[in-house]
Amino acid sequence: MTTVPGSALGLDAEPLAGYIGATITGVDLRENLDDVVIAEIRQALHQYKVIFFRDQQIGHAEQVAFARRFGKVTPAHPHEENPPEGFPEILPIDSRRYEQNLGRKRTSYDNSWHTDVTALVNPPAASILRSDILPPYGGDTTWTNLVAAYENLPKELRDFADTLDIKHQFNTQATAGSQRERKVAEANLAAYHPAVRVHPVTGERALFVSPGFTRGPREIRGFSPTQSERILALLWEEATRTEYTVRFRWQPGSVAFWDNRATSHLAVSDAGHLGHERVLYRVTLEGDIPRGVDGRESELVSGQPFYGS
Ligand code: SIN
Repeated sequence: MTTVPGSALGLDAEPLAGYIGATITGVDLRENLDDVVIAEIRQALHQYKVIFFRDQQIGHAEQVAFARRFGKVTPAHPHEENPPEGFPEILPIDSRRYEQNLGRKRTSYDNSWHTDVTALVNPPAASILRSDILPPYGGDTTWTNLVAAYENLPKELRDFADTLDIKHQFNTQATAGSQRERKVAEANLAAYHPAVRVHPVTGERALFVSPGFTRGPREIRGFSPTQSERILALLWEEATRTEYTVRFRWQPGSVAFWDNRATSHLAVSDAGHLGHERVLYRVTLEGDIPRGVDGRESELVSGQPFYGS
């Protein structure tokens, strides 16, 4: 995990932590990048799970164009009604919006550990997040490597986790009567996912437990709510152990690109109480339906799959 892959084209990766994360240098995301560079970025993404670019001067159009090189780009979010004009793929993560929708000042829409939109039967394969307005300090984001979390479990626990299916759904914290509350209820997204998913490209197994989407009502197929709660608490703790994480300090022009099939992330909520604003823009790539170690697929409970173009 810590070797820096060489690059024929000057693309370098500087690892940032022992299990996850690297800064990529030697690439300008404004450019129409060569297919070989795109393949190397993809390889770095799979190796490091989240990769970072600094000092990029891109706007919405370049962000979407860059994302398209890696797959189909989804609409902004199943609950998003107001993407920036002309850019239906862009999800603003904008602290200025949250007071109204979520009832309190906060810097990201979800300040719990989660993998993006795992209430969908086909959660996004990857996400690309770009900074715009940043607090003077605070407002970092942290990612965890779910493959390391799985691989370092005792074998007996890995074997047990391999068999579990967990219900993922939105647990809205929205203000009663808000537009967000209505959208969450309308879309009614829920799916059962294997607790251990096999990455379709690398073949690695990841502990796919997305705390923000599995926290309530807790449901593991075949277990009571109390049993589910206790098993999930154990798996969440393993998935988010500090040693599997990397914490990223945003700067103007920063871009983070993460593999949603092998990571969870957490927006650190330490800037909202100071009254600082924080605005970032996210795009997501269409995802496949997860598969467990025995090949079983996730199951749609309610709502619709989420496709890109
Ligand atoms: C996200 O959950 O996609 C956004 C993370 C952040 O606000 O840092």
